[in-house]
Amino acid sequence: MLSRPEALLSPHDDSPGDSRTGPRSAGEDAARTAAQPPVRISARGISKSYGTTAALRDVSLDVKTGEFLTLLGPSGSGKTTLLNIVAGFVRLDAGQLFFDDEDVTLKAVNRRGLGMVFQNYALFPHMTVGENVAFPLRVRKLGRQEVRRRVDSVLRLVKLEALAARNVSALSGGQRQRVALARAVVFSPRIVLMDEPLSALDKSLREEMQVEIRHLQKRIGATTMYVTHDQREAMTIGDRVAVMNEARLIQCGTPAEIYQRPQTAFVARFIGESTLLPVRPQGASLALVDGTPLRTEHPVPSGDELYLVLRAERMLLPAECTEKTNRLAIVLRDVIYQGDSLLIIGEAAGGMQVSLRRQLRHGMIGGLPASGETLRVGIDPDSAIIVGP
Ligand SMILES: Nc1ncnc2c1ncn2[C@@H]1O[C@H](COP(=O)(O)OP(=O)(O)OP(=O)(O)O)[C@@H](O)[C@H]1O
Ligand SMILES: [Mg+2]
Repeated sequence: MLSRPEALLSPHDDSPGDSRTGPRSAGEDAARTAAQPPVRISARGISKSYGTTAALRDVSLDVKTGEFLTLLGPSGSGKTTLLNIVAGFVRLDAGQLFFDDEDVTLKAVNRRGLGMVFQNYALFPHMTVGENVAFPLRVRKLGRQEVRRRVDSVLRLVKLEALAARNVSALSGGQRQRVALARAVVFSPRIVLMDEPLSALDKSLREEMQVEIRHLQKRIGATTMYVTHDQREAMTIGDRVAVMNEARLIQCGTPAEIYQRPQTAFVARFIGESTLLPVRPQGASLALVDGTPLRTEHPVPSGDELYLVLRAERMLLPAECTEKTNRLAIVLRDVIYQGDSLLIIGEAAGGMQVSLRRQLRHGMIGGLPASGETLRVGIDPDSAIIVGP
């Protein structure tokens, strides 16, 4: 097996012409890297194990044509394995992979038409920015003028045109990341795969790059899969988010669907600042463990093991509650000032920690009791999400 960057940078050619000899015409070269229509990626029942460790279990997923999909999950949940299977670096044990209607399960890496960005950039340290970006075009034997035109154009896209002649070893982390992005998209791939590309950057640069990557993807239109374990990044950057845990795909949806309609306790915990309180059916309705009745406008899943999802920003202070608000007594434990917001931490019946967050628009919130006193906070029925295990 080729190492990853070498495999990706070797010429890709879907025609039977690998054995051709002789120079190609300029027109032919341009056609080989002309903007290709993006494809739909379909994973069907994919499983992969390493010895006794299951990395993927029966994963089925569609990435729509031109869509930006983020793969989100804790460490070891199978994100990189799935990306590597789409890339062709890892052979699957069971299942199939399609690009549109073509079965590519056994197709070689360098024939899949992929651009890929890795966590550690994998740039050539002895080359300039321009030479790094030109590399995939040179291995595809494009003419000199066409290479220059494309490199200039993509460097403008990532705002590095002024640094084309600089050696990549003299760049900042964010600039290197932009070079890696430019190199991944310069040959107009149908698919772009990125594995935690921003993890080496500090928070503010990461946030800036998230927006840039999103804009770049919309400009080039390639179907994109992007791995992260940062929920905010996943929601900021993706059209849809696929949440993985323990080798399974748990839920896939738009950021709003994932946040507002989590289907399992895992998704509810993993996304947002949430506490899950156990609830039990009481006749046709629900009650908290201390017997307090609970009204919800959301569907209640079947089964006996149910949880109320309390999002910190949806919780209401006593003064914000109305007569329809579900009320919950908490013992105040801490009030933490965080500049833009106030985090209020309390303990509900059964010792569960409940957080309440308030944006600070007009200075501090007054009238909060002292630590150790009871506060009757609330959650409205339209915010009371119930999930199964
Ligand atoms: N080459 C390998 N050999 C053995 N086990 C592996 C190999 N690659 C992955 N695994 C195992 O497969 C599981 C999934 O790994 P994977 O790298 O896909 O997780 P991940 O979601 O990308 O995690 P992280 O966020 O830490 O990068 C893990 O339990 C991991 O230890
Ligand atoms: Mg990984």
